[in-house]
Order: sequence, then C-alpha cells, then structure tokens
Amino acid sequence: MAVKALTAILLFLACLSLNEAVFPNRNKFIEENPLKLQSTIDPAYLASKPRLPHNLNVFQYDIKIQPYFPNPTTTHDSSLDFTFDGTTTIYFQMLETTTSVQFDAYNLDIYAIALTSSNGIRQQLASANLDNSTNRITVAPVMFLQANQNYTVSFGYTGKINPYNYGGLFYSTYNYANGTKGNIYATFFELGDGAKSVYPCVDDPHFKAVFNLTVVAPKNMVTIANTMEDTITDIGCLLK
Ligand SMILES: *[C@@H]1O[C@H](CO)[C@@H](O)[C@H](O)[C@H]1NC(C)=O
Ligand SMILES: *[C@@H]1O[C@H](CO)[C@@H](O)[C@H](O)[C@H]1NC(C)=O
Ligand SMILES: *[C@@H]1O[C@H](CO)[C@@H](O)[C@H](O)[C@H]1NC(C)=O
Ligand SMILES: *[C@@H]1O[C@H](CO)[C@@H](O)[C@H](O)[C@H]1NC(C)=O
Repeated sequence: MAVKALTAILLFLACLSLNEAVFPNRNKFIEENPLKLQSTIDPAYLASKPRLPHNLNVFQYDIKIQPYFPNPTTTHDSSLDFTFDGTTTIYFQMLETTTSVQFDAYNLDIYAIALTSSNGIRQQLASANLDNSTNRITVAPVMFLQANQNYTVSFGYTGKINPYNYGGLFYSTYNYANGTKGNIYATFFELGDGAKSVYPCVDDPHFKAVFNLTVVAPKNMVTIANTMEDTITDIGCLLK
C-alpha cells in the first residue's frame, strides 16, 4: 500500500475474524488507556529540538515490518516475542553537496546500511554512526553526496514492541462485548519518538513522502492501515 502522508502511519494488527465488528469497545479502551509517551531523549536536546537540516527531499519509504508476538499459529523462537525485524529503504535527493546525511532512528538495532546512487552504484561508507543522545544516524560515504543527485539508503534492523504507554509499535488488549480480551499490536506516532522507533526516517512534518508499507502477519489476524490494502501474499508457514 502506498499513501501520501506525514510520518504518522497507523497500523493495527488485531486478533479478530473479518466478519466481526472491529474494536467493539474501542472508545472505552481509549478512555481507560490514555496513551502516555515516555521519552528517553536527552532533555537538553528535547528543549532545543533542532530539526534535521532541510538539505534533502524525501520521495518514498519502502518499509517492511515482521513483528513477533505470542500467537497460537506461529512457530518463531519465543525469545523473539515483542521484537520486530525491519527493512526500510528511503528514496531521497540531496539538495546540496555534503559529506554526510542524517536520519532519525530511536531504539533500533541497525545491523546493515547501504547507500546507493541513482545509477545503481553502491557507495562505500566512511562511517555510519547512531548517536543515542540525539537519536540520529549519520551516514557518511567516502565520496561526497552530490547536490541534485538521487540516492537510496537501506537499513536492516530490529526493534522493540513496547508497552502501550511508550507509543511507537506497541501491544495492548481490547475487550469483546462478552468480556473476552483480544490482543492488538498498533502504532502511535504522534508524539516524540514514535515513528523513528519503527523505521529510520526524516521525522519532521516538513517532509511529505509516499509510504509503501509491507507487514508480515499471522493469517489468523487482521491487518489494518489508514489507506487501501494493495495486495495480500500468502508466504506460507501460516503467514501473509
Ligand atoms: C514496496 O516495497 C517493497 C519492499 O519493501 C518493494 O518490493 C516494492 O517494489 C515496493 N512497491 C512500490 C510500489 O514501490
Ligand atoms: C545506543 O543504543 C543502542 C540501542 O539501544 C544500543 O545497542 C547501543 O549500545 C547504544 N550505544 C551507545 C554508545 O550507548
Ligand atoms: C530524482 O527523483 C525524483 C522523484 O522520483 C525525480 O522527479 C527526479 O527527476 C530525479 N532526479 C534525478 C536527477 O534523477
Ligand atoms: C467472546 O466473543 C469472542 C468474539 O466473538 C469469541 O471469539 C469468544 O469465543 C467469546 N468468548 C466466550 C467465552 O464466549
């Protein structure tokens, strides 16, 4: 699915079958569980809130998330529960010639980074550092990033599924009318560290982009986002 939007994407995975009312007690759930984001960003940095330099244009994000959580149909190692695997590719254009480019990332363990210019040539990296006090990753190729050139940067990473009051990708429960609880895994991106704890991005409302989101989910769950679904692919092992 692709959607022209801010970095605020809503994503819900719910343990429902399709013909049931979605979130029957949703309003009650929201009242009882007001979202309270907790930030661990350096308070001095938060007070000054510097934005990333506006020296690039971002066109598109290709985001693929595979969350792991207890589910009767999945067979992953339980040590993976409440984590997710992610890959994100960001399509962008540099607006000035520069030695490095920065992205926002929070609480992600990034294990792979690839920077490619629009002619398909992979750029050798001099360094790629995640600064935990500002939650920014600086990607510096050996060669300069050239003004007006298009690039893609791809990140492979793992992240965490948080308790609901941390936002980002979180887990919680909802009540059926008969009192039985269901599990939901959803995102809350509107404050603080939410979006950048699910995918590296330029987390600034100045930047509008197309979001192409792929979620790998158990077949017994419903996946809901705030735009039309594109395709569903059966990838076996009771996953879609
Ligand atoms: C969406 O992203 C996936 C990778 O996550 C990619 O394979 C696919 O081609 C992209 N689709 C579009 C329409 O850009
Ligand atoms: C930064 O945070 C990551 C993720 O929590 C952690 O793996 C890493 O050790 C931290 N690095 C430093 C220098 O504190
Ligand atoms: C960069 O990508 C944008 C969006 O796809 C496109 O409009 C533009 O022509 C590209 N620029 C170059 C120099 O390739
Ligand atoms: C409660 O309702 C849900 C949804 O209709 C159903 O799956 C579940 O079996 C019900 N539980 C009981 C104890 O009736």
